[in-house]
Amino acid sequence: MKKIITIACSKGGVGKSTIALNLAIELNRRYAVTILDLDYQKSATLFNKIRKSNSLEPLNIIRAENDKVLKKIIKENTGILIIDTGAFDSDLNRMAILLSDMVITPTSDSEVEIYGLLMFNEYLKSMKKAKPSLKAHVLINHLPPRANTAEIINQVKDNNKTLTLLKTVIKERNDYRHIFTKGQGVTETTKKRDAAIEIIALAKEVLK
Ligand SMILES: Nc1ncnc2c1ncn2[C@@H]1O[C@H](COP(=O)(O)OP(=O)(O)OP(=O)(O)O)[C@@H](O)[C@H]1O
Ligand SMILES: [Mg+2]
Repeated sequence: MKKIITIACSKGGVGKSTIALNLAIELNRRYAVTILDLDYQKSATLFNKIRKSNSLEPLNIIRAENDKVLKKIIKENTGILIIDTGAFDSDLNRMAILLSDMVITPTSDSEVEIYGLLMFNEYLKSMKKAKPSLKAHVLINHLPPRANTAEIINQVKDNNKTLTLLKTVIKERNDYRHIFTKGQGVTETTKKRDAAIEIIALAKEVLK
């Protein structure tokens, strides 16, 4: 399995690192997974530090400080490379998006998040010339109870040249909030909890 998955959205705080880490941990059960932490805030790198201090096996997390290193990492990748990007426009983020097999864009139902998704959609459109097939897989994340997903679904339909919707929905759950406390993904604690079931479903859908 040789694949590159980039988790990206120009809006901050939508759950990019949360999804990147949980997905990586789940896929790492069967495949060789590397996380490339492209965010200057280094959330994924911090997660590994917490793992180490809790005597848990660290994940394979690397960084790329420039485009040469990024290109080399992508070229030499032999497993699943999950790229956690930061919420900003940079040459590195653009390169990661263009060179990946799949882009996942988390979003929630609030107006500000949908606006963020539409801004990211403009960003994707600006890259279509470089890669005509470019499409982001929108992942509904952090969905509060009784929220309505109709607006997200409509926006994805209206922008179906650049956006497509993943079936899996990740709800707002404390289990996701607490991954940084223990340095553990939701599927590492117990597989029977709702958050774990969601991440397992996401991993299956992504592999498909
Ligand atoms: N499904 C969820 N349920 C509950 N909390 C969530 C969920 N997804 C993310 N969060 C919380 O939302 C916050 C932002 O998540 P995260 O850091 O993963 O976002 P991000 O997109 O990586 O942010 P940044 O743009 O700063 O890199 C964190 O406190 C995280 O615990
Ligand atoms: Mg992040």
